[in-house]
Amino acid sequence: MTGAGEHWSRRRLTPAIYEAAAAREPIARLGGRVLWGADVRPMYASFAEVGGLPQGGAVLDVPCGGGVAFRGVPPGAGLRYVAADLSPFMLGRARAEAARRGLDAAFARVSVDRLPFVEAAFDLVVTYNGLHCLPGPAAAVAEMARVLRPGGTLRGSAVVTGAGVRQDALVALLRRTGDFGEPGSAADLRAWLEAAGLRAGAVTVTGALACFSAVKPG
Ligand SMILES: C[S@@+](CC[C@H](N)C(=O)[O-])C[C@H]1O[C@@H](n2cnc3c(N)ncnc32)[C@H](O)[C@@H]1O
Repeated sequence: MTGAGEHWSRRRLTPAIYEAAAAREPIARLGGRVLWGADVRPMYASFAEVGGLPQGGAVLDVPCGGGVAFRGVPPGAGLRYVAADLSPFMLGRARAEAARRGLDAAFARVSVDRLPFVEAAFDLVVTYNGLHCLPGPAAAVAEMARVLRPGGTLRGSAVVTGAGVRQDALVALLRRTGDFGEPGSAADLRAWLEAAGLRAGAVTVTGALACFSAVKPG
């Protein structure tokens, strides 16, 4: 993995700052508003849907970061939860967060463009705030679609371009620092989902943040 993936894998400071903010919703709300002109509440609300699967359901959370989506899984949900990320630092934070919440999860150090899982292994794949960090988001979406079972759902969020001059300038800056890969517009995001053979549902954009879900026809 080169580019943004390598950057996230080696760095400590940016991931630590990001993870600390994401773990505290009020700070994330403020940061989302100030940096991206976005209301992050719908994204936090969508974490709750992760826990809506029946017992035994298989979830892949990639990139899991520090485990912000774990809050959506109620105790005793009985899910087969796989939390995956490229960064050993983030996986360490995610392990601690799972232990704190009593979530029984498996952890995997993976690059999202080469997932070590068989086809149709998961009922739900969630990908929050990761696609904009990747040099090849379309390939990553295709890989997530591959491991999703027919009838399964891909759900997530990503920073998108085109929200405004200020937000696009911040995207350009974060691309230069290596924190971002190749984010696209909301239309690009929909195109990546459809090119991966998924049926895209609503792509809801608030400021520069898009929340989306898509179903694998089956
Ligand atoms: C902005 S964080 C989002 C994490 C988490 N889902 C959240 O919403 O807080 C982006 C994550 O992408 C991970 N990442 C970057 N490139 C990756 C890759 N190629 N494969 C897997 N994870 C990657 C980083 O390590 C980081 O944890």
